[in-house]
Amino acid sequence: MIVTLAKPKQKRVQEVLSRAAGDKRYKILDAHMKKHQHRQDALIEILHKGQELFGYLDDDLLLFVAQRLRLPPSRVYGVATFYHFFQLKPKGKHTCVVCMGTACYVKGADKILVALEGALGVKAGQTTPDGQVSVLTARCIGACGIAPAVVYDGTVAPRQTPEDVLATLQPWLSHGSESTVGD
Ligand code: FES
Repeated sequence: MIVTLAKPKQKRVQEVLSRAAGDKRYKILDAHMKKHQHRQDALIEILHKGQELFGYLDDDLLLFVAQRLRLPPSRVYGVATFYHFFQLKPKGKHTCVVCMGTACYVKGADKILVALEGALGVKAGQTTPDGQVSVLTARCIGACGIAPAVVYDGTVAPRQTPEDVLATLQPWLSHGSESTVGD
């Protein structure tokens, strides 16, 4: 991971920026950075917002912030790893982020999370013992119109139900966990 950020070749930056262009969460983060006038001393505040939006901080997000604030990626990565309240991309092969913002919450995000935690036997912020799925939460990912929203491996899915989530996760699970999901 450090290697990726230590060598932010222009191509890699361009890839991140073009991915970000189609993702509303990045737009919200951009607006937040603008509010802070892209001040470098607002880095911690901006990373907090990023974590709220994405549930964790991954390489793409850190590179995006570095590019926008005109900071060396190593500095952004250093801050993200120094403070315990920042969560870097979780260990699971797959990630499932449940939006717990107000619009999603009132439409049943809490039930989705309970179903997910019950079926997988892990709490939000944890990864299944087989390393297949990490469960995370975020606060308003900018998709309130399609609440409740869940993000599967970076793809936002609209109007999810507990059944939808369990069905989507089923193929991700190793044989040992399959029998517990959807029972
Ligand atoms: S509250 Fe979930 S997308 Fe806004």
